Amino acid sequence: MSQFSEADFGANGYSSARPDYPETFYKFLSNYHSGSNSQLVDVGCGPGTATFQLVKWLFNFSRFIGTDLSPPMINRANELAARVTGNSNNQNNSLVGKITFHVAACTDFSFLENKSCDMITAAECAHWFDFDAFQLEASKNLSSGGTIAIWGYIDSVLEQYPDTDSLMLDLQYGENKLGPYWEQPGRSILRGLLQDRHLNPELYERIEESHVMARDQPSAATNDFPLLITKEMPLSGYLAYLKTCSAYHAWQKDPKNQGSPDPCDELITTIQAMHPELKDLNYKVRVTWSSFYKVGTRRA
Ligand SMILES: C[S@@+](CC[C@H](N)C(=O)[O-])C[C@H]1O[C@@H](n2cnc3c(N)ncnc32)[C@H](O)[C@@H]1O
Repeated sequence: MSQFSEADFGANGYSSARPDYPETFYKFLSNYHSGSNSQLVDVGCGPGTATFQLVKWLFNFSRFIGTDLSPPMINRANELAARVTGNSNNQNNSLVGKITFHVAACTDFSFLENKSCDMITAAECAHWFDFDAFQLEASKNLSSGGTIAIWGYIDSVLEQYPDTDSLMLDLQYGENKLGPYWEQPGRSILRGLLQDRHLNPELYERIEESHVMARDQPSAATNDFPLLITKEMPLSGYLAYLKTCSAYHAWQKDPKNQGSPDPCDELITTIQAMHPELKDLNYKVRVTWSSFYKVGTRRA
């Protein structure tokens, strides 16, 4: 997956415009985990989106290591870590010495000092991986009883505006919009919420795999499905989110689109015409995504 590795990919914008994963999911992970709490590796960490949240919620772990193939993403993660740890008044100073980031592929765990860790997480990235090679290497590097956790989200809807759903899909997948600019097969695999990728029962036990479509999400997270990904944001924030997509980055770089109307801006103009209150870009919208997760415990 090369688009995220390009030097001009907007890693800064990515880190501020993407949704957080909910506390309920981290509590679920914490309750699920039955192994030791020494090292946790967050692969495909990007700018540390999940890594920083894992430090906050899985506080029993002593050490957190984020890895990613993309140097711009790791640079951004290091900048964010330096910003947090550099502020001596910040209560997050528990981060100091606890968190490190490395450029590495999802199958590369050679940086592990004692060759083992207790949890491996992969948020919003496993659709780019050779899934079987990843889960095999993860099982070799997890301690006995260690947890593998894979999750992600896709295809947002504006909760109050179901009449915009088809326009969102047209922006993402339309032939004359962003459709041709997604790297494949990753995007299609994610669109299917990784339902055709399974944790191997020969490597993992206590396997749980689940997914929910955006319009079927419960209004609050439940014990049945703890990964409700939803965010209230101004419409301007939603536009910024749309522009963090790798396909939008590729669309912008294609010389044939120079001078063409921006498809994300066009979508917002269209929905503003349908719903006049949205003419105010500060108007708050609730955005919800389809999501999935898979967890397993390394067999002894
Ligand atoms: C959509 S971002 C997700 C970032 C973050 N985990 C999150 O939750 O937002 C996907 C990340 O996966 C990384 N990636 C893609 N293929 C990879 C691979 N084979 N090994 C490691 N990282 C990879 C990309 O560089 C990118 O930063």
